[in-house]
Amino acid sequence: MWLFNSSIGKKFIMALTGICLVLFVTFHVLMNAVAICWPSAYNSVCQALGANWYALICSAGLGLLVVIHVIYALVLTIQNRKARGNDRYAVSARPKSVEWSSQNMLVLGIVVAAFLGVHLVQFWARMQAQEVMGSLYEANGVEIPAAAGTLFLQIAFQNWWTPVIYMIGFVALWFHLNHGFWSMWQSIGINNNAWLPRWKKVSCWWVTAVCVLFALQAVVFTVRANQNYYVENETLKTQYMEMYKEHLDKLNAPLIEQMQALQEEYQQLSKNTSMDFAAKMQRQSEIQAEFSELNSKIEFNGAFLHEQYMKLHLIADKPEPAVETTPAAVEESVEEVADTVTVNE
Ligand code: HEM
Repeated sequence: MWLFNSSIGKKFIMALTGICLVLFVTFHVLMNAVAICWPSAYNSVCQALGANWYALICSAGLGLLVVIHVIYALVLTIQNRKARGNDRYAVSARPKSVEWSSQNMLVLGIVVAAFLGVHLVQFWARMQAQEVMGSLYEANGVEIPAAAGTLFLQIAFQNWWTPVIYMIGFVALWFHLNHGFWSMWQSIGINNNAWLPRWKKVSCWWVTAVCVLFALQAVVFTVRANQNYYVENETLKTQYMEMYKEHLDKLNAPLIEQMQALQEEYQQLSKNTSMDFAAKMQRQSEIQAEFSELNSKIEFNGAFLHEQYMKLHLIADKPEPAVETTPAAVEESVEEVADTVTVNE
């Protein structure tokens, strides 16, 4: 089939997957803008998308697009080098940045892939992957809900190296996308056309806007994370509490079901007049024991998740020092207040 065998077919696949990835990156930068303007709405979106089937299919499709894009890029590069030998860059005149990125596509690709690796470990692996497993993610000894996107921003951007790696990633991405668009217009064959320069300008502006926005967002996330905004904001804390409650309901649902079944069995036994009395008493006391065991599991889950919520401030790199409440500390603070009062008088 021409699409897979011919050179133009392969370039078409590159262009198509490339456009889809650019659309994804554009959607992503807009989603990040929500995290800046309205962090609690961002968490709600994370909660809604999370690990539902639509989101999982989209993520798998995205992964497939990346794989196809990379494989075809490698195949086309090898083919071009074989065909053109040392003359491979002698095409038509192109802007300096495109010329430079064209010659450094392998390095740029590796930098973008390295950034993406770090990025996916920081977010995707802790959010969507964690939600699929139905577990909480542990950070600094605190277990946190996978849908709490803003807490993951806190964890990532409170490290000094995160914005550094991201900035390098955005620069590489800018060169990569700029070159990608440029060669796409060549591949599609829009040559000597009055529209070609316009399309090239639009794509350059688009790519620049996306990368600059990403960079500005990384700055805002870094500043907020270093102010512990994401662990101290009251609206967000209420939302985290709701997420813990939701997780608690999920944990307790099978236990409550078992308790209901036991209750029913107990009632059936009470009504049963044909059963041996001793056996009946034996089973009823077993049921009572199982019931109280399940009850204490439910209580444990509640206490455990409440404790995690109370410890949320420990996620911060430099958490606010806890208020000391030993008798000596209380006496000291009373004395301090008394001193202030005397001075004011
Ligand atoms: C300031 C910059 C960025 C921030 C704060 C950010 C944040 C996030 C977050 C929170 C997620 C997890 C969403 C979830 O699993 O529910 C995510 C996923 C992802 N990000 Fe980013 N991102 C940034 C830049 C980028 C860039 C530049 C790229 C591409 C080159 C990128 C590619 C991805 C991909 C492929 C995923 C996985 C999507 C999926 O699960 O379907 N991100 N990002």
